[in-house]
Amino acid sequence: MTSEKENGENAMESALSSVANSAAQSRRTPGTQAMGVGLEARGIHAWFGDKHVLDDISLDFWSGTVTALIGPSGCGKSTFIRTLNRMHEFIPTAAMAGEVLLDGKDIYAPGVDVTKIRLKVGMVFQKPNPFPSMTIAENVLAGLKLAQIKVDNKDELLEECLERAGLWNEVKDRLDAYGGSLSGGQQQRLCIARSLAVRPQVLLMDEPCSALDPGSTLKIEETISQLSSSMTIIIVTHNMQQAARVSDYTAFFLSDGGPGSMIEVGPTGEIFGRPKDKRTENYVTGRFG
Ligand SMILES: Nc1ncnc2c1ncn2[C@@H]1O[C@H](COP(=O)(O)OP(=O)(O)OP(=O)(O)O)[C@@H](O)[C@H]1O
Ligand SMILES: [Mg+2]
Repeated sequence: MTSEKENGENAMESALSSVANSAAQSRRTPGTQAMGVGLEARGIHAWFGDKHVLDDISLDFWSGTVTALIGPSGCGKSTFIRTLNRMHEFIPTAAMAGEVLLDGKDIYAPGVDVTKIRLKVGMVFQKPNPFPSMTIAENVLAGLKLAQIKVDNKDELLEECLERAGLWNEVKDRLDAYGGSLSGGQQQRLCIARSLAVRPQVLLMDEPCSALDPGSTLKIEETISQLSSSMTIIIVTHNMQQAARVSDYTAFFLSDGGPGSMIEVGPTGEIFGRPKDKRTENYVTGRFG
């Protein structure tokens, strides 16, 4: 006999998988693009001091797809995505092992220019971090200045990036206002526009909507869907509905007292509908975490 609680959980699981499946129908079939594997993580381990926090994570991220990373707090999701653009090594006491291949080349190989990697693998953080005393326009173009990239037509690029980030219509008449004068959701889209200006191949997003209202969240999800046709997107989220709406693939991370490991990865509809591992099922149905 199934209890009412179990019936409720099954209903929730199938609701999430139907969200994922209907979202998938409006996108291309994941993994079938001719664009190939954009980013590959191979046997990633991470430590803070002598604390082992990530255990042997291998994951492929296809170009033109969105991958959601889910799992309870502290299982290593943020640490993992920081290894994908070499931000991890800048944290005191941090160490790592493994390879990250971008277009088949290890970003940790000797002689690789870290600044160039950060341009190719952009990042958007949980808390929007625009430069408050720079104007909206200056914020968008700030990365170009830092990387000393010359552009022929700055106005065109500015409009393109703000348009792609879903912010153009709201700010086109006040490009000279300060970045700090925007709402939280607008600031987050400004940060997305800023990361797009240097034309990254991969965009890492660590809980980009966790501080936003539902309207701003929806706008950012639309932005993610639009961007995903031309780049690789990896998003950490605690919002299962969001993972179901925006991602093609979902990877479930878990730390069972020891270092975080990846329990399961697959097409999002399958992870929410027919997960292979009981622990994934328990998590996606809200039984723990
Ligand atoms: N700067 C740091 N110094 C020492 N330990 C850290 C540091 N950052 C993270 N850790 C530890 O590494 C482990 C993984 O943390 P991480 O932030 O990657 O988890 P997370 O899955 O992103 O969690 P959340 O969902 O809460 O953001 C945790 O045990 C955490 O305490
Ligand atoms: Mg985190």
